[in-house]
Amino acid sequence: MSSITPKILKSNPVILGIESSCDETSASVCSGGQILSNIIATQSIHEQYGGVVPELASRAHIQNILPVVVNALKNAQLDLGSLDAIAYTQAPGLIGALLVGSSFAKSLSLGLNIPLIEVHHMQAHVLANLIEEPRPAFPFLCLTVSGGHTQIVLAKSPMDFTILGETLDDAAGEAFDKSAKILGLPYPGGPLIDRYAKEGKQVFPFAQPQIPDLNFSFSGIKTSILYFIQKQIKTDPDFITNNLQDLCASIQYALVETLMKKLVKAIRQTGIRRVCLAGGVSANSGLRKSFIRAGETQGFETFIPAFTYCTDNAAMIALTGHYKYLNGSFASLNSSPSARASWT
Ligand code: KG4
Ligand code: ZN
Repeated sequence: MSSITPKILKSNPVILGIESSCDETSASVCSGGQILSNIIATQSIHEQYGGVVPELASRAHIQNILPVVVNALKNAQLDLGSLDAIAYTQAPGLIGALLVGSSFAKSLSLGLNIPLIEVHHMQAHVLANLIEEPRPAFPFLCLTVSGGHTQIVLAKSPMDFTILGETLDDAAGEAFDKSAKILGLPYPGGPLIDRYAKEGKQVFPFAQPQIPDLNFSFSGIKTSILYFIQKQIKTDPDFITNNLQDLCASIQYALVETLMKKLVKAIRQTGIRRVCLAGGVSANSGLRKSFIRAGETQGFETFIPAFTYCTDNAAMIALTGHYKYLNGSFASLNSSPSARASWT
């Protein structure tokens, strides 16, 4: 089936955004590029399993999606008849989770006879920097650090991106979460490492990977933490409990340094001095501090979205949908989600 396309493109479209790629069910209404609502239902069921269980995520999305969309419209004080298009996360993510959002979006698009827009989750994370003031002018660089991805992206316009570097193995958030797991902390451990790090000192020197170019690798840091702790526990079984704060500070330091070194290298290589953070790990206080300090000392402008727009949310999907609508980029109703798909 071909796409539904509007006869006339509106300059201030009202877009409903739907996000269901992992363990957040979210819906948002964006009018003329302004976010009117952003409802997020976080799935706490995964905590007890130490990570996201795909099957449970899909089921929770099915339970959450209707009330989340209804509340997004209610908070925006609009009804279904006001919508000009439906934007949904098409890739990447857990396929069962993506299917819930895509089926819902397609049904609404068909039922309301309005266009469907596919959004790539990673493009949306970058564009989250345009949701609120201060907004970076193009071109800008963005370090996107989430549970599933780590990328340095050059954004030339809302539709034109080049990936300059990305992780070759684990994502930055995964490295935080897996390190936390080694310390016996519950999932997701990233925010806990951040919390304990504030009370500790960087005293344990964990290996920082030496990868050429602008790519990242985090699996070596994780292994170095594991071997170090296994060795210490042999002589002091309470080593983790006795050193939790310093361990967290040292892990956070190693991960943040690795991210910042590559980001600074990208700034030097491109000469671009407007730089953004995006993704859940940009909530990390050590990364934020180091990023802002580097901006001050090395003379580049820094942008970080509000916390609610750093972690997974539909506002970034709706705003990306806004730009794609203006660009006339509409999807076929045969559109299907993809667990992995490139976006540049
Ligand atoms: O962007 P996001 O919400 O979901 C994905 O698309 O993956 O990112 C989630 C990741 C998790 O790995 C979580 O541990 C990490 O972001 N995270 C943090 C912090 N807050 C969230 N990592 C370190 N410090 C934090 N304060
Ligand atoms: Zn994400």
